[in-house]
Amino acid sequence: MIAITGATGFLGSHLVSACASRKIAVRCLIRPRSPRADRLHASRAVTVETDFNDEASLAAALAGCDTVIHALGLINGTDEALRKANVECTRNVVAAARKAGVARFLFISSVAAIRRHGAYGESKFGAEEEVRKSGIAHLMLRPAFIYGPRDENNTGLLIRTLKRWPLIPLLGGGGFKLQPVYVGDVVDLILKSLEAPFDGRIYNVAGPRQVALKEMLELLGQSLGLKRVFVPIPLRPVQALVRIYLSVFKNTRLPAKQILELNKHEAFDISGTERDLGFRPMDFREGAKLCAAS
Ligand SMILES: NC(=O)c1ccc[n+]([C@@H]2O[C@H](COP(=O)([O-])OP(=O)(O)OC[C@H]3O[C@@H](n4cnc5c(N)ncnc54)[C@H](OP(=O)(O)O)[C@@H]3O)[C@@H](O)[C@H]2O)c1
Repeated sequence: MIAITGATGFLGSHLVSACASRKIAVRCLIRPRSPRADRLHASRAVTVETDFNDEASLAAALAGCDTVIHALGLINGTDEALRKANVECTRNVVAAARKAGVARFLFISSVAAIRRHGAYGESKFGAEEEVRKSGIAHLMLRPAFIYGPRDENNTGLLIRTLKRWPLIPLLGGGGFKLQPVYVGDVVDLILKSLEAPFDGRIYNVAGPRQVALKEMLELLGQSLGLKRVFVPIPLRPVQALVRIYLSVFKNTRLPAKQILELNKHEAFDISGTERDLGFRPMDFREGAKLCAAS
């Protein structure tokens, strides 16, 4: 039996549907009164409500499971909220997994843990440390920007913007590059990695190439049949204002720190993932059509 945390989320709910269609038995560990529990109804998944702050409650929920896929995570929030959700919940799930005799632990980390950019990157790295020192056989996947149907934050936000505004201002002309990976490809990889040895390896999970934000908007717009005008906004003056803002409001929830990093175009090496796990992610050109059709 495979236990899945974060099952009510964007990635987790796709994973649960894929398991249901492949008849893989899973148990979804969800928090009480999860606002998105209804996402799991269609796949008729077995759900267990548990307290992620309580090791005993988690160990009881994990009884009889041989594998945990830990996809629970918080992406945006205050430093404290990120630490609690990403580091503390992971620590508790790992400790409970040991207590329940779970043999294998698959952790969904993030490419943000590589350079530990910002509080999110720090918290995902901290969570990885909890898994590394657990003594449980483990694997870690580090996804980049995941997109696809039911995504509210990434392409979901881009699609809402395209639908609403005929004129779209783009910081730095939208030259900022991402390496988007389709959610279905991430799910397939998670399921493939269950057949790999759990030898502590870490794999980057990103699309086949970097795509500038402007090209992403153009491809999504084409797929939606929308023609939009993009208005470039110079990046440097905005970054100067953000620096002043951050010197006053140190614990802001606004993505101010990300704006300071907009001109850092890091490419992620996925050759190890391709070689060891047969990862073959689709290009955003194809993925954009699937997003628009959903
Ligand atoms: N989306 C991306 O582009 C991306 C990229 C790289 C890595 N990741 C990682 O992939 C994982 C899944 O991301 P996602 O996009 O699916 O995120 P999501 O849609 O926001 O889902 C997050 C999941 O974690 C649960 N969760 C969050 N904070 C919690 C807490 N304090 N206690 C208990 N449960 C909590 C949520 O439960 P509720 O539904 O009850 O809120 C939900 O099931 C995360 O670990 C994230 O760091 C995502």
